[in-house]
Amino acid sequence: MTGKKLKIGIIGSGGMARHHVDGFGKIDSVEVVAIASRNAQTGAQLAETCSAKFLSDWNDLVQHEGLDGVVICTHNNSHGEIAVAALRADKHVFTEYPLARSIDEGEEAVRLAKSNRRVLRVSHSEAVSNSHKAIKRKVGELGQLLLTSFLRLTAGRGGRPEILFNLPISGPPAHFFVYHIYPIIDLFGGVEWVEAGAVYEGLTDNGGYHRFVNSVTVGFKAGGIGQWTWSGGIEINAAEQHQRYVLTDGALINTGSGWTCSTRSGIEDVLPFDGPSLSLQELWLDEIQEGGSNAAHADAAIALEAIKVSLYAEQSMQENRRIALVN
Ligand SMILES: NC(=O)c1ccc[n+]([C@@H]2O[C@H](COP(=O)([O-])OP(=O)(O)OC[C@H]3O[C@@H](n4cnc5c(N)ncnc54)[C@H](OP(=O)(O)O)[C@@H]3O)[C@@H](O)[C@H]2O)c1
Repeated sequence: MTGKKLKIGIIGSGGMARHHVDGFGKIDSVEVVAIASRNAQTGAQLAETCSAKFLSDWNDLVQHEGLDGVVICTHNNSHGEIAVAALRADKHVFTEYPLARSIDEGEEAVRLAKSNRRVLRVSHSEAVSNSHKAIKRKVGELGQLLLTSFLRLTAGRGGRPEILFNLPISGPPAHFFVYHIYPIIDLFGGVEWVEAGAVYEGLTDNGGYHRFVNSVTVGFKAGGIGQWTWSGGIEINAAEQHQRYVLTDGALINTGSGWTCSTRSGIEDVLPFDGPSLSLQELWLDEIQEGGSNAAHADAAIALEAIKVSLYAEQSMQENRRIALVN
């Protein structure tokens, strides 16, 4: 990377904010100059660890003069609002997933990034993953999609269950597990319709719950059906995850110990690409130094399509009907 040292600010002071202070701290081309958080205690502590300025209001951070980029590490319900404000203030944006808690905010963020030539990256690590790149190449060799099937079962409720298992703050499981949707949209493109169901046990008036089952089915524009099922907070000894991409000429299968490709002639392992890969943070900084990137715009559009699935799934559950996407 060449050019001047970029100055960034981080919003939030929890687990992911600490992770990004550490991560960006290891990259020479960038300096964390400000931390904003509504939590004055953890915010001031985090700012001290990287000799950054502490601000109690994220609005002041996005308006901060001399700042190139903003990293959003707040809860899901504020990502979209902050991203839009930062892009309006001409800042580049790196946001933790999901892109936004509303489709309007997500669309506005993607539109602003493009029109203002800012780099918007959502923290979907498949964009730089050697394993995902290998699967993408294999998908290209196996014909038309028939079915994608995804299942995840988890016992735990996360570090802050009152935040994660809370519908208004984090969205339905399909929304906080949007990182299971993003790679499939990246592989198979946008969707035409969405239908979904959910059961929440112990649901309270504030939208909190103890355990859940959430399933989402989509029809892809290019043909084929996608299905995701998540269940969490359940009585299971260890988490389980199964994925299958069934195409006309073969199936890609992952039952927890890596990907295999199954065709009529046999079964072979699908190994990750060899070689170094940039981290998503390094990629974002490189794209900023280069004055923008079409790849970032394309990737933000995929992140937007992914939240359309999770948020139209939420609407489908509320209205008990299939939702056709207008595009
Ligand atoms: N990429 C990954 O691998 C990964 C992994 C885990 C999570 N995530 C995503 O990262 C995000 C943050 O997760 P986390 O685990 O870091 O959560 P966390 O530990 O609860 O931290 C969230 C931080 O943001 C602050 N905050 C929340 N809403 C805010 C608002 N409206 N204005 C100002 N500050 C606000 C919180 O303040 P309080 O202390 O006052 O609540 C807290 O400091 C989530 O969206 C999650 O989906 C990504």
